[in-house]
Amino acid sequence: TTIDRINIAIDGPAGAGKSTVARKVAAELSYVYVDTGAMYRAVTLLAQRNGIGPEQAADLHKLIEGLDLKLQPTSTGQKIMLHNEDVTELIRSREVTTQVSHYAANEYVRQKLGDMQRELASHKGIVMDGRDIGTHVLPDAELKIFLTASVKERARRRHQELNDSNYVPLEQLEAEIAARDKLDETREIAPLIQAEDAVFLDTSHMTIEEVVSYIVKLGQSKLMGV
Ligand code: DC
Repeated sequence: TTIDRINIAIDGPAGAGKSTVARKVAAELSYVYVDTGAMYRAVTLLAQRNGIGPEQAADLHKLIEGLDLKLQPTSTGQKIMLHNEDVTELIRSREVTTQVSHYAANEYVRQKLGDMQRELASHKGIVMDGRDIGTHVLPDAELKIFLTASVKERARRRHQELNDSNYVPLEQLEAEIAARDKLDETREIAPLIQAEDAVFLDTSHMTIEEVVSYIVKLGQSKLMGV
């Protein structure tokens, strides 16, 4: 039996190339890409603006209850609207990047964003990337990928994307990536682990195009019921 549309979950550590790959896979299949990391980043920005630290559970809970977060798909990715403000660029700041794992460990934050993510995926045809998509958010996703690369390679890739205004030495990037991995892997709720039925893909020695076409092929065979 053939099916119309599937959901694809792509999980893995920071800097493995998930968002680039997920965006391209979605484009090839004419699916919608959902970047769940951006949602955790938006919550982090909102909390920081309100002076709420990651350990202030009660205040965070209240903040999350009134959260107004929308993802708007565009031809190049997605726009993140936080209380009707476009924060797509702002959530990539170092201030957010270095703090987001702490906020992402909060149970209310995870519950609220997880519910939003399930709702977004309810009509299928979604490529969603994150840390816990295959394990917790969409355990029934038809295709699950666990995408990774060595810490060295991931730091090298990030380093290449930097320019003079946001320059960070390679060694520091490596240390930051390793620290974020550790927080994401050891948190109590929905830690970063590979789902049992996920396809493991180490991209250290693969090009983006190779990774994308591999995943698209897997997706197409799921659609044909193979
Ligand atoms: O993919 P990213 O770097 O934009 O993710 C930002 C942070 O959000 C990352 O440190 C882990 C967290 N995150 C998460 O806990 N669960 C997800 N599904 C996605 C991201």
